[in-house]
Amino acid sequence: MAATNDAQMWVRDDEHVWKTAPADGDDQHKLNPSLETDMTSLWYLHEPGILHNLKGRYAETEPYTYVAHLLVAVNPLRPIPMPPMQSVRDAASLSGVDPHPYAIAESAYRALLLPKAVAQSQSIVVSGESGAGKTESTKIIMRYLAWRAGAGASEAPASSSFNDRVVQSNPILESLGNAKTQRNHNSSRFGKFIKLAFAPAPAGTAPLLEGGRIDTYLLEKSRLAYQCTGERNFHIFYEMLAGAAPSQHDEWHFGKRTAADFHYLNTSGCLSVAEHDDAAEYANLGARSTRWARHPPSSRSSSAASPRASTSVISAASRRPPRPKSPPAPRPRTPSPSPIRALSPRRRRCSGSR
Ligand SMILES: Nc1ncnc2c1ncn2[C@@H]1O[C@H](COP(=O)(O)OP(=O)(O)O)[C@@H](O)[C@H]1O
Ligand SMILES: [Mg+2]
Repeated sequence: MAATNDAQMWVRDDEHVWKTAPADGDDQHKLNPSLETDMTSLWYLHEPGILHNLKGRYAETEPYTYVAHLLVAVNPLRPIPMPPMQSVRDAASLSGVDPHPYAIAESAYRALLLPKAVAQSQSIVVSGESGAGKTESTKIIMRYLAWRAGAGASEAPASSSFNDRVVQSNPILESLGNAKTQRNHNSSRFGKFIKLAFAPAPAGTAPLLEGGRIDTYLLEKSRLAYQCTGERNFHIFYEMLAGAAPSQHDEWHFGKRTAADFHYLNTSGCLSVAEHDDAAEYANLGARSTRWARHPPSSRSSSAASPRASTSVISAASRRPPRPKSPPAPRPRTPSPSPIRALSPRRRRCSGSR
């Protein structure tokens, strides 16, 4: 197959990494004729072809692209329209659905609907560099699963339905475990393993969300006492100082002090974050915590439902059920795990920050 643009090829470039130029020299790759939603369909599968495909789709407001069952997400860095959840749920075949975290979540959920003999627990792995969009992608998946597996779950933020409360655990975790770093204004400073449990459903009905459990580990404790220039301590301190009522300030002996008056908050030169309204977040946090206290998710299930923060190191693999010795269970058609690979649209210079 000849290059489609006469003798134009991808060639290495010091500034742009790859650029198109007349064919010349050794290190060059053929151009692909079109952008593809699944990059296994690219005519030529090489680094410049993949990067060009992702860039082209991103420019068309399509930050998600498949590589077979793997979803590559380029951080859109701005709110983008979501497809209706119903359209993904009702799709006869997910191969016809545009690449999206909803489709990954639906694929995992459909695997739970398989006959008992072949159904098995599903894992969705979300990985990527700091600021790539892992946390946001995870929340999109959780929202979808909570909606999909919830009778009557709503997308309204103020709803107190069981499924919504599972999703609303995220802002609480983020206040206590996220901070502004040089790479991300809302960087998770801990690892997270989220387990959602679905109740076995009678034939003809879909499994309901039974409970959830979030294990946290590797919380970055050094951040409490020291932050690099331009970074912040955990959000919660600034939120309490900005949003708590005067009576709470008195109770906590804050007096009239602000974040600027506290040594552990004022040494990095960064007290506020444009994208993070501390007072509003504190108000939301209070509302959510109250709903949790009144209706803890464990009210539906006693064993799997109680979210518990811990600093123990765990991995998804260590929590998998033991494999059956014989005979081995047939594999479901939907692959497990379903990985999401999140990419940041540009590499930033700072290193050492998650
Ligand atoms: N799907 C998305 N839609 C809109 N903005 C996003 C999305 N994913 C990420 N972002 C933006 O990028 C920032 C960093 O994303 P985040 O998920 O916190 O990264 P990570 O967890 O990989 O470090 C978010 O605070 C948000 O502003
Ligand atoms: Mg994160």
